[in-house]
Amino acid sequence: MVAQRLHTENSAASTIQINMPSPSFSELFAQDKPLLVLAPMQDITGVDFLRIIHSYGGADLYFTEYFRVHRDSKPDKDILKSVDANPTGRPILAQMIGRDTSALVRTAMLLEKYPVAGIDFNLGCPAPIVCRKNAGGALLRDLPHVADIMHALRAALKTRLTLKTRIGYYSPEEWEKFLPFLKVLPLDAVTIHGRTVREGYSAPVHYDKIAEAVRELSCPVIANGEIRSADKAIEVWKSTGAAGIMVGRGAILNPWIFRQIRERLHGTAVFLPSFRDLYKYIERIYSETRIPGMGDKTHVSKIKKIAGFISCGLESRPSFHAQLMRAETPCDFFRACGDALSSDEPCFIP
Ligand SMILES: Cc1cc2nc3c(=O)[nH]c(=O)nc-3n(C[C@H](O)[C@H](O)[C@H](O)COP(=O)(O)O)c2cc1C
Repeated sequence: MVAQRLHTENSAASTIQINMPSPSFSELFAQDKPLLVLAPMQDITGVDFLRIIHSYGGADLYFTEYFRVHRDSKPDKDILKSVDANPTGRPILAQMIGRDTSALVRTAMLLEKYPVAGIDFNLGCPAPIVCRKNAGGALLRDLPHVADIMHALRAALKTRLTLKTRIGYYSPEEWEKFLPFLKVLPLDAVTIHGRTVREGYSAPVHYDKIAEAVRELSCPVIANGEIRSADKAIEVWKSTGAAGIMVGRGAILNPWIFRQIRERLHGTAVFLPSFRDLYKYIERIYSETRIPGMGDKTHVSKIKKIAGFISCGLESRPSFHAQLMRAETPCDFFRACGDALSSDEPCFIP
């Protein structure tokens, strides 16, 4: 049993202690409801963010940010903290990105000595700095090499092996050949972000391809892409039949989303956070992700990268984003938050 801290915005006691059993990986998928997964997001989903988001209800499964792997790399110490000091009490997969098979095997064997639920390989990152090195999503142009990497990892590892991928590199038509390729990979689970690398982060998501993967693959499939509300999560779960639902940017904007999905599934009242609750959440991100010794201006500029996902997602506060992005000092930053978020009205429709 692990102790989990659960934050309750609508009760006088802001924090209560509850005990929850820590499930095994296979038990996680053996359920008649979707497994709720927080997407890995570089420079955001570090140990502090995991602790914060888990306190709002949290996911059932977490990923680390990716460990960059190359010939001379060592696992990043800050990312290792998410595993070593996993504040969620839930399983966490260690994600790697790279293309050097022997370096990936060496790193995975090191990582599996830590308390991880398995090793995940990144086959989707579209960042030019990654793709220029033919890693991340760019590897979708070299499937024989992906097969070599995955078989080498499977042969070397005792722990589970999972993959997080997009549906192709250039065009959704690649899926026709990619799906049979996925079918023969030695995987314990696969996450599918239903877009190609070229489709970036805003094109419509091909949920039909995710549904096809669910029908064809023997391992559990986690559906990912543009899930921003509890209703959308349930709609994607039902329409694809996926075993899991992964939420990324929607969970930065609305850390209550996992709780709201569970409440919708149970048919109980859905918690509706107010703008003021959102303000308190941003305050927590500000104070709990601060690196000791970091100056105010540097911290504000770091926090703006996270808070920007919140301000640009709040359609009912159209001037918030620009005001927040102009902030240079803590005073400017909190003035922008105060101007936009001092209201007890609900801020999201579930
Ligand atoms: C800021 C940012 C950082 C990301 N970093 C990673 C990463 O480290 N590993 C990964 O597999 N995907 C990464 N992604 C992709 C997300 O995991 C997810 O697949 C994508 O955002 C689509 O899901 P969403 O629409 O719910 O955000 C990142 C996305 C964003 C926005």
